[in-house]
Amino acid sequence: MRVLVTQPIDPAGRALLDAAGLDVTVHPGPAPMTPAALREAVRGCAGLISMPTDRIDGDVLDAGPVRVVAQHAVGLDNVDLDAARARGVVVTNTPGVLTDATADLAMALLLAASRHVVAGDRLVRRGGFQGWRPMMLRGLDLAGARLGIVGFGRIGRAVARRAAAFGMEVVHSGRPGADDGLPFDTLLATSDVVSLHCPLTPATHHLVDAAALARMKPTAVLVNTARGPVVDEAALAAALRAGRLAAAALDVFEAEPVVHPDLLDLDNVVLAPHLGSATWQTRRAMATKAATNLLAFVGGQAPPDRVV
Ligand code: DGY
Repeated sequence: MRVLVTQPIDPAGRALLDAAGLDVTVHPGPAPMTPAALREAVRGCAGLISMPTDRIDGDVLDAGPVRVVAQHAVGLDNVDLDAARARGVVVTNTPGVLTDATADLAMALLLAASRHVVAGDRLVRRGGFQGWRPMMLRGLDLAGARLGIVGFGRIGRAVARRAAAFGMEVVHSGRPGADDGLPFDTLLATSDVVSLHCPLTPATHHLVDAAALARMKPTAVLVNTARGPVVDEAALAAALRAGRLAAAALDVFEAEPVVHPDLLDLDNVVLAPHLGSATWQTRRAMATKAATNLLAFVGGQAPPDRVV
């Protein structure tokens, strides 16, 4: 079987594919392929290992024709699952292995934004540090602060465990129809930090818009390690600039890799380049999991992480 891998991955994943005798082509990256280049590259490939930066639609699936998409990520908002279903294409992802890495990064961003770590670094580098001052760069005490978690799945729960160790009071918003958790508006209005961990779906697109931001405390901090379009970036930049929100930390962006220009000159926002799962161990585990899922399909077995 011919397989296209759309970015270089950890060698452990590649080794599994090679050991199984598959005919593997790896797009060298680092920029993702354009849709036209992806359709061309996938021609003749029944297997595809895809990244969150690839748009996998019906045209890409038909160009193979592709029979299995093993996504090298847990989020699948870049894959047209209906198109896959309609064509009988199997789709898998990599749940579980990136939970801790992403939760760690959410805590890193939470701390960085709450305690002005990046603004302080910039101050020191530009020679602006004149010595200790009682009123300088005051931030938020995590102990006793309320953390509102939106999306209480694996990663949201892992963040909750970490935040509890910092002495935070943790609440989460309930799913529509579920009887646990706080109503979303109550979570927004009462939390000192709001951390997003929901998938991107039509229901969560711009979940944090101007109205939602207006409900948050002006002293609050917003952390987004989920997906960029969950937040209306223009509205967020306006709220941060006007002091209607204290700070934000973003690992994901609406039009990744483009960052809304209004965010770039704000000192009260920390910007990270989608690093949630970027550890050696986790990227190795993701590559291995994606390859294992694909190989299970090739071997006629049920892929462990089959979504479609
Ligand atoms: C995912 O797995 O969806 C992450 O965004 C990749 O880091």
